[in-house]
Amino acid sequence: MASASLLSATLKRLQDKVALITGASSGIGECTARLFSKHGAKVVIADIQDELGNSLCRELAADSPSSFVHCDVTKEEDAQNAVNTAVSKYGKLDIMFNNAGIIGVAKPNILDNEKSEFEKIISVNLVGAFLGTKHAARVMIPNRRGSIITTASVCSVIGGVASHAYTSSKHGVLGLMRNTAVELGQYGIRVNSVSPYVVPTTLAKDFFKLDDDGVYRIYSNLKEAVLKPEDVAQAALYLAGDESKYVSGHNLVVDGGFTVVNPGFCMFPQSV
Ligand SMILES: NC(=O)c1ccc[n+]([C@@H]2O[C@H](COP(=O)([O-])OP(=O)(O)OC[C@H]3O[C@@H](n4cnc5c(N)ncnc54)[C@H](O)[C@@H]3O)[C@@H](O)[C@H]2O)c1
Repeated sequence: MASASLLSATLKRLQDKVALITGASSGIGECTARLFSKHGAKVVIADIQDELGNSLCRELAADSPSSFVHCDVTKEEDAQNAVNTAVSKYGKLDIMFNNAGIIGVAKPNILDNEKSEFEKIISVNLVGAFLGTKHAARVMIPNRRGSIITTASVCSVIGGVASHAYTSSKHGVLGLMRNTAVELGQYGIRVNSVSPYVVPTTLAKDFFKLDDDGVYRIYSNLKEAVLKPEDVAQAALYLAGDESKYVSGHNLVVDGGFTVVNPGFCMFPQSV
């Protein structure tokens, strides 16, 4: 009996932790909220899609306490309120997952790109991550611990996969992550990012015009396996939990080797 309870404590990798996840009403954020909750975390779901967020919250309650807070990550008062909600409901914030993001429409010619559209993407993806990091740090510094994670993308390390705005925002997120990892390390706070390749969520399906299994029809380096939201959630779980206690300033790329190969100039024969 004692060994069974020891096992379940080991399997619940976020027991007694409090996590705030932005963009958690759907896609990667939703999947991560489910996984964190199964691992015992109290999860605060922060999103602009209230109905989806509230219904997810009711589902998660079966595993662990959960709350929804309306939060537009571009608004500082919303980011501040989301962090304060985690602290007032659950007493602290251990894990901040800046995951909310938008990709915009594909306009390959820079001359067609509008300033307002560029600024909108930067505002959600980069300013949103800045505000989340700032307000998480505000409550984590006095506790001398915490894990801050941002969803970047393969677009944080290479060009040519998405729009100028999206690629710029994700490169920016990487800079923010590295700079804040250096600053916040003195307080025992770890800051990392996770960088997925194409995951068939609403965002990617709209942008790449994929149907449900469409991900098979775009180039992938690693054949047979298909990247799913669960794979990204597992990477976030690792960065959130104590298993990664000495990992900070790291961009965990989850791309099956996509960013290390140039398929147009490759010495290894490729079967299609
Ligand atoms: N799907 C992919 O292929 C892929 C690849 C690499 C990185 N990403 C990144 O993963 C993250 C999650 O995207 P996803 O694929 O799950 O897409 P998604 O569209 O399913 O989820 C994005 C969530 O963010 C929320 N959101 C959008 N604007 C917001 C705002 N201003 N404030 C608060 N919430 C807001 C949406 O309501 C939605 O719930 C994004 O940062 C995206 O850039 C996705």
